[in-house]
Amino acid sequence: MKKEVVLILDFGGQYNQLIARRVRECNVYSEIVPFDISVEKIKEKQPKGIIFTGGPASVFGEGAPRCDSAIFDLGIPILGICYGMQLMTYSLNGVVAKADKREYGVTKVYIDEQSPIFKGFTSENDFLMSHTDFVSELPEGFKNIGHTLSCPNAAIENREKKLYGIQFHPEVNHSVNGTLVIKNFLYEVCKCAGDWKMSSFVEDSIKNLKQKIGDGKALCALSGGVDSSVAAVLLSKAIGKNLTCIFLDHGLLRKNEGDEVEEVFKKQYDINFIRVNCKERFLNRLANVTDPEQKRKIIGEEFIRVFEEESKKIGKVDFLVQGTIYPDVIESGLGKSSVIKSHHNVGGLPDYVDFKEIIEPLRDLFKDEVRKTGLELGIPENLVYRQPFPGPGLAIRVIGEITDDKLEILKDADYIFREEIQKAGLYKNINQYFAVLTNLKSVGVMGDERTYDYTVALRAVETTDFMTGVWSKIPYEVLEKVSSRIVNEVQHVNRVVYDITSKPPATIEWE
Ligand code: XMP
Repeated sequence: MKKEVVLILDFGGQYNQLIARRVRECNVYSEIVPFDISVEKIKEKQPKGIIFTGGPASVFGEGAPRCDSAIFDLGIPILGICYGMQLMTYSLNGVVAKADKREYGVTKVYIDEQSPIFKGFTSENDFLMSHTDFVSELPEGFKNIGHTLSCPNAAIENREKKLYGIQFHPEVNHSVNGTLVIKNFLYEVCKCAGDWKMSSFVEDSIKNLKQKIGDGKALCALSGGVDSSVAAVLLSKAIGKNLTCIFLDHGLLRKNEGDEVEEVFKKQYDINFIRVNCKERFLNRLANVTDPEQKRKIIGEEFIRVFEEESKKIGKVDFLVQGTIYPDVIESGLGKSSVIKSHHNVGGLPDYVDFKEIIEPLRDLFKDEVRKTGLELGIPENLVYRQPFPGPGLAIRVIGEITDDKLEILKDADYIFREEIQKAGLYKNINQYFAVLTNLKSVGVMGDERTYDYTVALRAVETTDFMTGVWSKIPYEVLEKVSSRIVNEVQHVNRVVYDITSKPPATIEWE
């Protein structure tokens, strides 16, 4: 059976991924595609519906992103959001005008006519508006179904052709019950069946992977992070012992982390699991290196080398498993929504292992869906909800030269910080938190003794995209407890400071 899909045409709006996620939360699979996708391509995909996203442009502006107008004749329901609504109007010969001033913020939207997309709403609603241009004259066949005090056409429809436009943003949390507008579009207009569920995703994936791989052999580089762990477990459910996972413990992981990963994969899942303890090797290569980018490069290269050696021992494999997820592969309409941090990826593995094909079982999933899949597969919550951890690990949290001693100091300090955040129940609000071992030594006093020891910095940020973020306002009492425990329990630390810079201008990591 073909999977039901709704296409989201990307006009460069900042909430595009959110729209796609909301659709999926309504149990309908969605795909973000470039705004200039051809009508042939759309037909091939046979979507149940199409959503036009918002975007920063003006429809009459030079170079404004436009779609092929034939799209309106396909008979496929379309929902235009913000810029998407204006483009629909403009393309169908209605009029879009510029308002004197921008309408921004949560605004009362009054529903003027009953409409399938407003099923379950009362006449007055709080939705987020964010626009200057507005629809001043409707295209033929359309009628107004909602307004605000300053925007006469906040919602429009051509029910016969199943074309709908809304000026507000239903996808953001500020819009009260906004998801219901999307749900109504999916179920009342597009008549979706709603077959996208994580449990069926797991079942279908296992079935498909079994079919595809047959008796072939697959290899997975396990980092212990969420994505590669979920990919590995999914594969193991499909092909059992024909999957081998290689886990490189380069000594730059957090305290006890290597053992925790091993415990889960060996005991809970009975996976062919090879742990390679190669700390010495990494530390030798990193000796005397202080430049952050150089550290990243060395770790990336060494990672590939060790993986290559280990995979040779296994012999030929047919498939290489990678934990790529959807935000990594979205082909954006304006090249804006996809963010690539090349230095953040530790080594592209493909070119040196002898294999036929790459398998990326999580390619279609957003991060929260990967986590749900992990839970479906029975992976422990502490692994599934793990905060992001950089590939180069603690190497970029020991500032300057890395030594075994420094790593031990950092691991202990970091462990205490994380433990206290957990105990205080703050971990749900803080998206990334860790300790940094600065290379600053300063004078202190302990008992009657003068000390000359390291300064540990604590970092905690609140962010959704990790591209920007604010420092977390951790209560003083918690900071005090952490500071006192670190100086008392970790040798060679006599000072603890808290990083109160946001990103930008600082980055999350110190290196
Ligand atoms: P920055 O420090 O750039 O970090 O604000 C943003 C996010 O990326 C992570 N990060 C990395 N992840 N390899 C990775 O896999 C890296 O080299 C790397 N550097 C930063 C960082 O932990 C944060 O989540």
